[in-house]
Amino acid sequence: DVARPLVVALDGPSGSGKSSVSRQVASRLGLAYLDTGAMYRAATWWCVHQGVDLTDQPAVAALVASMPLEIGVDPSDPTVHVDGTDIAEAIRDSSISTAVSAVATNLEVRAELRRRQRELIDVERTAGFSGGVGVVAEGRDITTVVAPDADVRVLLTASEEARLARRAKDVHGDADASSVEATRDQVVRRDRDDSTVSQFLVAADGVVTVDSSDLDFEQTVQAVLEVVERTGQR
Ligand code: DC
Repeated sequence: DVARPLVVALDGPSGSGKSSVSRQVASRLGLAYLDTGAMYRAATWWCVHQGVDLTDQPAVAALVASMPLEIGVDPSDPTVHVDGTDIAEAIRDSSISTAVSAVATNLEVRAELRRRQRELIDVERTAGFSGGVGVVAEGRDITTVVAPDADVRVLLTASEEARLARRAKDVHGDADASSVEATRDQVVRRDRDDSTVSQFLVAADGVVTVDSSDLDFEQTVQAVLEVVERTGQR
């Protein structure tokens, strides 16, 4: 009996821990890992690098349509290259975090990246990185738009307080009051900007919510693995 390829879709806001949790879940299940946020970040980096005005929507869309992006989906080494340049670190820079919403709200960009994301998922469904056993794809609209037919669909949420504390720790190395305040504006604004495109803070029909507010990393991973076991028939 050969295991059926498994597609796990996981959405959540920034600071929910979705990237590290998705990566760990993919590792433990031997699945590929697709970080769709990295694709929006790569698109932003590429446009900035090419000197295009991010508010010029047709120009941005045209540039993204021809972007030579290569995304590596091995969860132990998820790589991001554009035109041969390794940009895995560059796309985490705060200048990209600040600019990415302008690109992610461009509907033509979304259509193009959605098409590429579906292609990448299909490769993993058939004969990809891990021999066709499947993929964990994470982002904002995977459960609803990119892969609504996924075997397992999870919305990873966390209270605003918990998300701010995690993001402050990521950015400032600690979560004291001033770091949290410095982060608040960025996180709250970005959630609001992102929500103009897809409503990702509410679980769609058939999507299982995992609230990580009071869970540590390992407990959150376990909670997602339980959902996979319960709904993914593995
Ligand atoms: O998860 P992240 O912070 O790396 O995402 C970067 C940006 O891309 C963020 O502003 C939300 C956006 N995004 C999106 O609109 N749709 C996705 N599927 C993934 C990310």
